[in-house]
Amino acid sequence: MGGSIIKILGIETSCDETAAAVVENGNNILSSIIATQFEIHEKYHGVVPELASRRHSEVIGYIISESLKRANVYWDEIDSIAVVNRPGLVGSLIIGVAAAKGLAFNFKKPIISVDHLEAHLYTIFLQEKKFEFPYIGVIVSGGHTLILEAQGINNYKIIGSTLDDAVGEAYDKTAKMLGLPYPGGPSVDKIFDAKLINDIDFPKIMLKNEHSDDFNFSYSGLKTSVLNYIRKNKDYRVESVASSFQHAAIWVIYKKVKKYSEKSGINKIVLAGGVAANSYLRKLFKEDECMQAFFPDISLCTDNAAMVAGLAYHYRDSVINNYDIDVYAKSEKFRFLKK
Ligand code: KG4
Ligand code: ZN
Repeated sequence: MGGSIIKILGIETSCDETAAAVVENGNNILSSIIATQFEIHEKYHGVVPELASRRHSEVIGYIISESLKRANVYWDEIDSIAVVNRPGLVGSLIIGVAAAKGLAFNFKKPIISVDHLEAHLYTIFLQEKKFEFPYIGVIVSGGHTLILEAQGINNYKIIGSTLDDAVGEAYDKTAKMLGLPYPGGPSVDKIFDAKLINDIDFPKIMLKNEHSDDFNFSYSGLKTSVLNYIRKNKDYRVESVASSFQHAAIWVIYKKVKKYSEKSGINKIVLAGGVAANSYLRKLFKEDECMQAFFPDISLCTDNAAMVAGLAYHYRDSVINNYDIDVYAKSEKFRFLKK
């Protein structure tokens, strides 16, 4: 690369985090600012799209200027602006994309649109500078539950996906039923006790046949089982339900990834997305000597813009038309086709 330094500003507003970051040459994070909105959505136990969008528009200007300030860079040092334009809440995505377009116009910078899921998968390269393909990518978040084989940038093969709810969604709904605070994942994880995982035998859905080659997931049945259990057992113990639920939800992911690792011979596993912060998931993978599991730092697991600016470095030569970028609820690359 002849020692050239490329600094990219990344913007992420796909859900309920407003984030901006400056990343140098695809992996050196100069700044990464994340504004969460938990306090706004907490009382609804889920993200309210209109409120998320309004909050993004209130803080985005500040978050972007703060990311440049903390990186100690001026606009003339920024090579291009990367922004997530899919998948996500369209009303939220549009705030980030509009900000990117306005700034690009003003400062005469190209815009690079980025897929949020691909950015999550890329996170590991921000942390392990010498990391190499191929690996098995596992995206577990509030919106997705996905196993894929990553062979290179823009070279992914989908192995399995959820057929209904995402695992993070199951966490959030279960926590709500148990009266635990939003977001549900960390709340359940906090009271998880490994001694209680077999208190209630919640179904490990889609894991019936250990030898089948089905790598898909389903989480709506697990959520219903929790609901039925707490309706039938009024004096249930919250810790027992939470721990047994967490075991059922996570064990399925662990077993399916392990099976695919054995099948494909790929033993490097990269886990990303909010649920990758889960302590039980981390423990199961770390203890398994047949797989080499890589977890991004907690601050990089949840939505952030460093992953966006980092990934965009590899797409900087493919900018086509600055102002035609639109927003989409669904991912194009990781669209799952049911068999
Ligand atoms: O990736 P993310 O920040 O946002 C998207 O969905 O894109 O993931 C948020 C999800 C929420 O459902 C939250 O409950 C879950 O990640 N989560 C966790 C943990 N921390 C966050 N789930 C289980 N255990 C955790 N420690
Ligand atoms: Zn995400």
